[in-house]
Amino acid sequence: MKNPFSNVVLLLSTIISFCFLLGSCQDEEMNAPVENPEEFVDALPREVLYPANNPYTPEKEELGRLLYWDPVLSGNKDVACVSCHHPSLGYADGLVLSQGVDGVGLGMQRSGGVFTRRNAPTVINTAYNGIDKAGRYDPETAPMFWDNRAASLEEQALLPMLSMEEMKGTSIAEEDIIDTIIQRLNAIPEYQQRFGEAFGSEGIDRERMLAAIATFERSITANNSRFDQYMRGNNSALNSREIGGLNAFINVGCADCHSGPMFSDFELHTIGVQDNVSPADRGASNRFDFRTPTLRNLNVTAPYMHNGAQRSLEEVLEFYEEVAEGDDDQRNPNVSEGQLDPDIRDLELDEDQIGEIIAFLNTLNDNSFDQTIPDRVPSGLPVGGNIH
Ligand code: HEC
Ligand code: HEC
Repeated sequence: MKNPFSNVVLLLSTIISFCFLLGSCQDEEMNAPVENPEEFVDALPREVLYPANNPYTPEKEELGRLLYWDPVLSGNKDVACVSCHHPSLGYADGLVLSQGVDGVGLGMQRSGGVFTRRNAPTVINTAYNGIDKAGRYDPETAPMFWDNRAASLEEQALLPMLSMEEMKGTSIAEEDIIDTIIQRLNAIPEYQQRFGEAFGSEGIDRERMLAAIATFERSITANNSRFDQYMRGNNSALNSREIGGLNAFINVGCADCHSGPMFSDFELHTIGVQDNVSPADRGASNRFDFRTPTLRNLNVTAPYMHNGAQRSLEEVLEFYEEVAEGDDDQRNPNVSEGQLDPDIRDLELDEDQIGEIIAFLNTLNDNSFDQTIPDRVPSGLPVGGNIH
């Protein structure tokens, strides 16, 4: 009689090899070449669009750069836009949460400032915010902030000046701060002259100030990464591992949200990231949906997520793996199963794909963005505020 045990062994080994095969089948499926990757993600256009009511002039861009660096725009004359969006820190600040008013120092050295509630995103390529898969966008309504609450760079630029923690401080009331700033600018002859040249007539007002800052921001672009070169036809710009990562990125489901030339659908999604309980928290937030961030220039924009809690791409991918697997340790406990975006649960990730996807994400870096630091600003205040 045949040993019944050998049947069991045979059955077991069949199951094991079948599972093994299945596993590798799944891997192959996830890395299968994507016929038309441009239907999911694409190169950025070389040129940016300007709103009809705020056309480009070089004088306006230069004026905007000086305003961006000038702490005269803050209540206590100590913070400039660049304090939290600095060229040497990828036009972000490298901090978990930014520190504005009263802060001293730059990046990791910054201390003593009032905390913001969220991580500072980069200004690089915000000129393209809102761009869709077909490359269409309208700079007059471009979504801004983690929750898309501002439309256009012009509208966005006003809000840090009104914000107590970012630039305003407590010495000047919100309804007076913009008038105060405009009066200060009017008292500086160099600004009078530069506004005149930038706009073709004399006069400094709120709209012109915001228009100049936005024009400068539209010059901070990085649209020639190796990925852009590859999508424009240079097949050798990516190696086979990186192309595998591009395929995995699409097949796994990342491009369901990180789509188009900016790797963002510019929609809000609930993916379950925890809120950061910061010193600035005035009670628990009940917002769980945040805008899909761009994945360009991640080499200079760590830490990641609206809470700034993920320090590396490995940590971000681990988060996705755990949430997709239903392991809820990392997930915001206030986000119910039903609230979680179903595309997150559907992600199919394993260690091999994680490595390849990270290799691919690194092809989205392009350090050719303008990093000019002005020698001086027209107010004569320290360039960039108290960042030295
Ligand atoms: C104290 C730090 C700080 C200062 C100063 C500051 N920002 Fe920001 N910035 C942030 C933070 C934090 C966010 C994200 C806030 C949110 O989404 O709720 C942000 C968001 C932005 C965004 C949105 C990017 C996007 O893709 O949505 C732009 C553009 C921007 N800031 C430009 C500026 C400009 C221009 C100034 C000066 C007028 C400025 N910032 C001053 C911290 C700062
Ligand atoms: C359901 C939509 C969705 C899917 C699918 C998705 N993401 Fe995200 N991603 C987001 C949103 C929304 C955020 C910001 C969440 C937050 O800060 O609370 C984010 C944040 C990130 C960040 C941090 C970027 C930064 O600057 O902070 C990275 C990196 C990232 N995702 C990569 C991926 C990868 C890789 C995949 C596929 C494995 C993926 N995402 C799948 C929506 C998505």
